[in-house]
Amino acid sequence: MSYFFYENVMDHYKNPRNKGKPDSYDTEYGDSNPTCGDNVKIYIKIEANRIKKIGFEGSGCALSMASASLMTEMVDGESLDNALKISEKDLMNELGIKELGPNRIKCVALPVKVLKMAIISYISKQNS
Ligand code: FES
Repeated sequence: MSYFFYENVMDHYKNPRNKGKPDSYDTEYGDSNPTCGDNVKIYIKIEANRIKKIGFEGSGCALSMASASLMTEMVDGESLDNALKISEKDLMNELGIKELGPNRIKCVALPVKVLKMAIISYISKQNS
């Protein structure tokens, strides 16, 4: 484990960005990792197909919470199309992680999955 990786993860874990439920939001989605029970819920306020405000709640390992925090920073202000393109690899790159085993990749995948489901749920409601 590199020092940069450790520092970055612990910074986001101890000082999470965008933690908490916004006063108003247009879509939300929450899920948990069935293998450990760690959970993440995302709330998004959307304006003109762009993320106007994003917040998250959750509890779990340092990597899942750090990934959720970093991800909210990365997609804040982005178009929904761009936010849907974010991947586990993007988060790993930002955190300075080169590779993860199958058990740990799930920690990074959880917030990504929740973000995409929240956006897809919003888009489906708009189109129905
Ligand atoms: Fe549960 Fe990381 S150990 S999400």
